[in-house]
Amino acid sequence: MKIIWTFTLLMIPGVLSSISVTGYSGGGVSITCRYDRGYTDNNKYFCRGRWSECTDRIRNNTKNKQVDSGRFSLYDDTRAAVFTVTIRDLREQDSDIYYCGTDSYAKVDSYTEVNLNVVTAADCCEKSISLSAAAGGSVNISCRYPQSHSADVKFVCRRSGSDLCAEETSVKESRRWSAEGQMQLYDDREQQLLTGIISHVTQQHSAEYWCGVQSDQGHKSFITRVLVSVTDIPKTTSPPSSSSSPSSSSLSSSSSSLSSVESPLQKMCVRN
Ligand SMILES: *[C@@H]1O[C@H](CO)[C@@H](O)[C@H](O)[C@H]1NC(C)=O
Ligand SMILES: *[C@@H]1O[C@H](CO)[C@@H](O)[C@H](O)[C@H]1NC(C)=O
Repeated sequence: MKIIWTFTLLMIPGVLSSISVTGYSGGGVSITCRYDRGYTDNNKYFCRGRWSECTDRIRNNTKNKQVDSGRFSLYDDTRAAVFTVTIRDLREQDSDIYYCGTDSYAKVDSYTEVNLNVVTAADCCEKSISLSAAAGGSVNISCRYPQSHSADVKFVCRRSGSDLCAEETSVKESRRWSAEGQMQLYDDREQQLLTGIISHVTQQHSAEYWCGVQSDQGHKSFITRVLVSVTDIPKTTSPPSSSSSPSSSSLSSSSSSLSSVESPLQKMCVRN
């Protein structure tokens, strides 16, 4: 019986296997760890170092909800029988062997070896971009990516708190606009350039976004952080001469006060 059981485990894809993930310093990675459905209820963990001396970076029993521990997050999707480990603020020193696994009541845990290699891609890609746009206009997110990822799926994710990818838009083909959700994406694989356009922006679009690549196995590498700030004042409207008051100039110079200060224009719009 026991021999048959062990043999069965070895036959399940994703168990006792090895995966390789490339990360970029300053960015992040999401690693998908598959497990057998028999382990749905068990603790999931992600530890660093060789198997004999592997030390936990995160371990938890919470299901279908993200839990955080420092730069590490874990999300156990019990329906898909996959748990995702995300590492933020990557550094080159994070390069190492890791294991993702499930606690087991049998003698041996079910686990997957993860080889994480964190590199600096200074020659190709920007770590961070800041963009601003006026409400009603559009934002053009433009990210370069390393040539080694040309054939991968590209994505732009919107961050919410510790979740780097609370909302995702992806593009799977080269030189073809993909319009799902509020963002249009275009991937030029020859130029290694990902473009994301958000039209008719409102202040709700002010957020942190991430450009990245996704491998066939589902692992994500977050490469470029894009900070989008949408201001309330339409760019195209030339202000009447009477509005060149100190209050309007302070509004345009300090974006942080925008959310708390209601402009005269806004009040007029509300009344109409
Ligand atoms: C799992 O995460 C939750 C929420 O962060 C925390 O309260 C709990 O103590 C964690 N469990 C373990 C075993 O670390
Ligand atoms: C977006 O910006 C990039 C780089 O600045 C530019 O090459 C591209 O033409 C722009 N795309 C659109 C649709 O505006």
